[in-house]
Amino acid sequence: MVDAPRIFVTREVPETAIAHLLESLPDARIEMNREDRWLGAEELVARGRGANALICTLVDRIDRSVLTALAPDLKVVAAFAVGIDNIDLEAAAELNVRVTNTPDVLTEATAEVAVGLILACSRRLVEGDRLTRAGRFAGWTPLFHRGHGVYGKTLGIIGAGRIGWRVAATMRRGFDCEILVHSTRRHRDWEDDLGAAFTPLDTLLERSDFVSLHCPLTDRTRHLIDATAISRMKPTACLVNTARGAVVDEIALVRALERGEIGAAGLDVYEDEPRLAPGLSALDNVVVLPHIGSATHEARDAMGRLCAEAVVDVLSGRDPVNAVV
Ligand code: GLV
Repeated sequence: MVDAPRIFVTREVPETAIAHLLESLPDARIEMNREDRWLGAEELVARGRGANALICTLVDRIDRSVLTALAPDLKVVAAFAVGIDNIDLEAAAELNVRVTNTPDVLTEATAEVAVGLILACSRRLVEGDRLTRAGRFAGWTPLFHRGHGVYGKTLGIIGAGRIGWRVAATMRRGFDCEILVHSTRRHRDWEDDLGAAFTPLDTLLERSDFVSLHCPLTDRTRHLIDATAISRMKPTACLVNTARGAVVDEIALVRALERGEIGAAGLDVYEDEPRLAPGLSALDNVVVLPHIGSATHEARDAMGRLCAEAVVDVLSGRDPVNAVV
């Protein structure tokens, strides 16, 4: 149990999180960065020094040097995210810092965006909105603005986690899609409940009309979708990324889209956020969203609550529920 703990929150989070912290740890001193800007490593360390808990976002780089500077006071890093590729887990384990994340509560929200991107790309919805606003809708004609239907098509899911499952289930049950899935492990429920076929990556890329990425960013998945992988996809295929930008080689993707090697891309995440790869935003066959997968009131409140609970658990000497380290 840490007495009068100090908690540093790197970015403004929903008030419900702070309320829970204060309710459970009334002596806590909570400092939250309320400025509308990110803290670099140096400033994060300066402002976080002495903190026993850090609530951070996916944009904060919590590397070995940051962890070393904040240990041994720091007992827990509660990530306001499910993806934790920005945190050096090995260093955290060595320095006895617990790390937690916020799984489950953002599954539906993120899946909604992935499904939305599949629909938006296939039916050219955003492009249609743009041209209508620009006064370029000259009236209905049989050949105007045709896209590709979604119903009964083949969806390839890369990464058989919770979000991938929700996307697959929605597309299977709502649109009668055939589901192919590529993952490090085979899961019986995908096969039994969704009729999904576990396939090697190449087969999935070659056969899918939509490829949706749901794997974490690791050394193994960085640029998993590179020029070679993209070249295996159908010329009409649509790539959807709501996972992490660096799973895709964005330069190769732009080149493939420019040359019509694939049909479209729906992106919520980027390799070098918030920057987009050169040429990406000039393309009509892409839908680009500002990393809003989990951006619902419901999900963000729940994420804040999970972070607060993790901090309270660790600082009270309990094992946190969503421990990664
Ligand atoms: C969002 O991208 C998350 O990892 O929670």
